[in-house]
Amino acid sequence: MEATTFVLFGATGDLAKRKIYPALYNLFVDQKLPQSFSVIGLGRRELSDKTFQANVEQSLLMFSRREAKDPVLMNNFLRAFRYSVLDVSRKEDYQKLLHLIEQQEEEQRTVPNRMFYLSVGPEFFETITANILESGLGSANGWKRLVIEKPFGHDLQSARDLNENLSKAFKEDEIFRVDHYLGKPMVQKLEVLQQNNPVLQALWNNRYIANVQITANEIVGVEERAGYYDHVGAIRDMFQNHMLQLLMMLTIHLPNNSTSENIRFKKKQVMESLEKLQKEDVKSHVIRGQYGPGTIEGKTVVGYLSEPNIAATSRNDTFIAAKLQIDNYFWRGVPFYIRTGKRMKDKSTRIVIEFKEPLKQSGANHDNKTPNLLVFEISPHEGISLQLNTRDHLNKGELKPMHIDFRESRDHVPEAYENLISHALHGDSAFFAHWDEVELSWQWVQPILDAYEENQVPLHLYAAGTYGPAESDDLLAQDGYHWWFDD
Ligand code: BG6
Repeated sequence: MEATTFVLFGATGDLAKRKIYPALYNLFVDQKLPQSFSVIGLGRRELSDKTFQANVEQSLLMFSRREAKDPVLMNNFLRAFRYSVLDVSRKEDYQKLLHLIEQQEEEQRTVPNRMFYLSVGPEFFETITANILESGLGSANGWKRLVIEKPFGHDLQSARDLNENLSKAFKEDEIFRVDHYLGKPMVQKLEVLQQNNPVLQALWNNRYIANVQITANEIVGVEERAGYYDHVGAIRDMFQNHMLQLLMMLTIHLPNNSTSENIRFKKKQVMESLEKLQKEDVKSHVIRGQYGPGTIEGKTVVGYLSEPNIAATSRNDTFIAAKLQIDNYFWRGVPFYIRTGKRMKDKSTRIVIEFKEPLKQSGANHDNKTPNLLVFEISPHEGISLQLNTRDHLNKGELKPMHIDFRESRDHVPEAYENLISHALHGDSAFFAHWDEVELSWQWVQPILDAYEENQVPLHLYAAGTYGPAESDDLLAQDGYHWWFDD
């Protein structure tokens, strides 16, 4: 792999400590980092290289999936880390940074390939990229890449403005927009599974599939993120990005040996085929909820309005369930139900594919048949299961469902950030959100934002520790379905 300087803005922040350093360390242990690799951490605080390295080590001890105890390995890893103070709006700091990078590249006689990772709040994105351009940090003989975290805009217009500004400094193929759900191993496998299994290929359409349910339930509440979350809610925090990305990854049909261009092209096509919602239709397709007090895993928790720094009058959404339809050859007529919420009964991210029951549809008597289900468990466990019908000879030969389960062993599952950083280092953009997808997602979501803003959609209260408001069940019940595994 090509020599790389990894320039990390926000090096003393939470994301860096919890996700980025552990991911780099695990990639290092797996020998998946370039031979010549250095990290320059940037932050407002004054830190010596030594203190910075000690902080990185500390974060590995706390958050790495592998124990970080081997002193030799650790030393070799930390050797690559340097620190430089940077105030994002001070031009001199960028010059100092440029000097430091050039000096290192010269010492190591490496090609100036530079990856700029923005692990900072979105309010700094534009200033930083403009300064990268102006300082000459980006105009090297090697490649330059920008890795950027969400949120990418607050609505359609702000996302467009942001993109326009970023593209003054970086071309589309140099921008890697992180959606960490695309880094989750099971999400990355969806494409491989479909491409390599004729059984799945044959079934991946409206002839056999009755409906699809995509769930991302969380136990946690707003935590200490009131300042951010109360302005975004479940719709912007999870739905516009993670949930729609899951939908795209599941529904694309790919030719063999697909490239990242194919994948992104197909995803874009799915988004273009999503049936648009008019503002007036939102309330019949979208359920909006907010958690009240309740009990989760035996503990009593407060409602959203009693959380620290949340105004008692907040109408922010902590839950959304929506019904979507894709109007294309493969999926016409198949409802996709998507839901995500905080303070739910359990932590589970999964996709359930419910197959059609031919006998039921033709009106024939069909014993106690349950539909075939194919389930992709994404988190907290990775797995796939298939529900089939069989006969129970011990119980009067009645039909009963049987489950074929595969569960990935936890030790072998890399973290989403390991996958994503590794792809970005290789310049592989298949699992990053292309601007077209981001724009189309905001476009689809915009009428919902408008309807929320105008209070056209009721805000249903649900008790913490449940599966959300009862109206979310009604959304499926009106089509003759129910959410699977809510028990
Ligand atoms: C983040 C959201 O993007 O995803 C958080 O900002 C949410 O609010 C998190 O908790 C969920 O991620 P995961 O990987 O735990 O499902």
